[in-house]
Amino acid sequence: MAIPTSRTKQAGIIHIDHEACNQCGLCAQICKDHSLAIENGHVVQSQHAVFGCFGCGHCMAICPQSAITIEGREISADDLLELPASHKKSSYDNLYNLMIGRRSIRDFSPKEIDQSIIDQIMDAALTAPVGLPPSDVNVLVFNGRENVREFAFDAIDQMAKALWLFKPPGLWLWKLAGMEAFEMMNNFGFPLINKLIQKKKANKDYLLYDAPLAMYFLASPYSDPVDPIIPATYAMLAAESLGLGSCMIGSIHPLIRHGAKKFKQRWAIPQKSTNGLVVIFGYPKFRFQKAMKRSFARVTTYDNSN
Ligand SMILES: Cc1cc2nc3c(=O)[nH]c(=O)nc-3n(C[C@H](O)[C@H](O)[C@H](O)COP(=O)(O)O)c2cc1C
Repeated sequence: MAIPTSRTKQAGIIHIDHEACNQCGLCAQICKDHSLAIENGHVVQSQHAVFGCFGCGHCMAICPQSAITIEGREISADDLLELPASHKKSSYDNLYNLMIGRRSIRDFSPKEIDQSIIDQIMDAALTAPVGLPPSDVNVLVFNGRENVREFAFDAIDQMAKALWLFKPPGLWLWKLAGMEAFEMMNNFGFPLINKLIQKKKANKDYLLYDAPLAMYFLASPYSDPVDPIIPATYAMLAAESLGLGSCMIGSIHPLIRHGAKKFKQRWAIPQKSTNGLVVIFGYPKFRFQKAMKRSFARVTTYDNSN
């Protein structure tokens, strides 16, 4: 048995080098699929795997003897990297300061973005956790203002086709999905789409703000719906650390998720993508002077100490 993804439907193949293995048992302890077990003091492939090796690679990464390798499921021993020497020196303060200083940026300087920076953003995004490996996230990279604008304008044209859903009587259909959906479409969806169309007529990109770079992170029907959101967030933080500003753009995917067959074909968007998020990047035109304090809607803590 194996957990299916669009990339593979096979379980990982486990190789154990019994000569190198020192029987520490770490691989068996860490494998939550129970693909590995200790029998008579030896690591063996267990007959009681829950799903079949899903290729997280933890057993390979934890083995002090390099005695275990996984192949298949888009993973192999070649994917093991030495941990950077500075790994343990990364501090909370550094990370927090980067995070608190980040703002959503919608005004960009004319400077385009070097490929080396795009590669660094992608490398960081690839470190994100994934619901089930291998990642089933598709990423579209729009490099250069012209490409971003072409995509943005095409997306706006696509949204314009659905405008009837955002004004009465189509708008009232949203009540079937609940009052919240109706309120959102009435007070946000409709004015937004109207503004996008209006601005496009004036040759202005109010969707992706004429950014010089955009990345569209897309889920597959096999992946967890939040799978694209996590690398998108990592990409955003990486960009911040590289001196770029960024902004998430959530308004495209919900409007093209159903239908929009030709639009999806044109831009290599998987037809059945359940979720997606665009992030735009560029050098900020303006600098913020202050950080912002935020709050969650509600935090409920269950704590045994009282
Ligand atoms: C999931 C998500 C979707 C978003 N979609 C849009 C969008 O479509 N257009 C936009 O201008 N900003 C979008 N934003 C940016 C938010 O509006 C922004 O985070 C918010 O104004 C708070 O500003 P800050 O990021 O500077 O704290 C989105 C943010 C998130 C997290």
